[in-house]
Amino acid sequence: MAQVISYVNGKYVISDQASLPINDLGIVRGYGVFDYLRTYNGIPFKLQEHIQRLQKSAELIGLNLPWSTQEIEALIQETLKRNNLPEANIRIVVTGGASDDFITPPEQPSLVILVSPVSQYQVQYYEQGVKLITVQMERFIPQAKTLNYISAIIALQQSKRANAIDALYVNQQSHVLEGTTTNFFIVRDSQLITPKENVLYGITRNVVLELAKNRFEIVEQPIYYSDLNSCDEAFITSSNKEIMPVVQIDDLQISNGKPGEKTQILMQLFKNYTSCLS
Ligand SMILES: Cc1ncc(COP(=O)(O)O)c(C=O)c1O
Repeated sequence: MAQVISYVNGKYVISDQASLPINDLGIVRGYGVFDYLRTYNGIPFKLQEHIQRLQKSAELIGLNLPWSTQEIEALIQETLKRNNLPEANIRIVVTGGASDDFITPPEQPSLVILVSPVSQYQVQYYEQGVKLITVQMERFIPQAKTLNYISAIIALQQSKRANAIDALYVNQQSHVLEGTTTNFFIVRDSQLITPKENVLYGITRNVVLELAKNRFEIVEQPIYYSDLNSCDEAFITSSNKEIMPVVQIDDLQISNGKPGEKTQILMQLFKNYTSCLS
């Protein structure tokens, strides 16, 4: 495989040889934020929105971000150019930076941009739908995409054991919030329902809401665990999974166990939307 080049604190380096100071707060305290997007036709999808979310995430954890949107954009474009991948995943990571006392954030955080080839999920996930499990967990500061994905790693280990492809976080109030790296939607009668509180505002979620706006009644409200019994369809969304139909949650089969009609309409609309980007 060709060598992958990353941007790390002002330099373009071979990814295998990239390094951060050992006292970086990202390493010793898990203090930092990131964002993740992909290209379609070589163009970063919703780049501005992802950079804005990165800025919002940083603000929510009090992390100074001394780069403008334009500077980050230019660094991403240059990293993409140096790698020349047909389609790329892009990970923008901002860690707290090197700290003398291992806890006080320094003036200058670290900025890393990583790219990798886009790999597709199995076609059958989209054609037949997938199984999810639920876990009683919540993310810390859910509207921020922080470096702390410990709950996601634990939940994904559990979902793997249950032959599921993702886990949905359920909070103390029995609200089904979101997946480990996905947003969650259900369809009930004519309504498309997705939670608004205590979730990350996924960029794919926004696109889906936009595409659905003139076709379905959109309701942003809590989804209770008990609502899963009466829903007609369910799906998850994310930059790398796009729109993925869900046909089973824990032991519950969703409707007839096949991807729902409205989900398939949205999948087609999303495909059309991303394929004509240039
Ligand atoms: C917790 C969480 N929710 C939702 C999403 C989906 O966001 P997006 O559509 O911007 O990829 C992600 C993405 O990684 C995530 O980590």
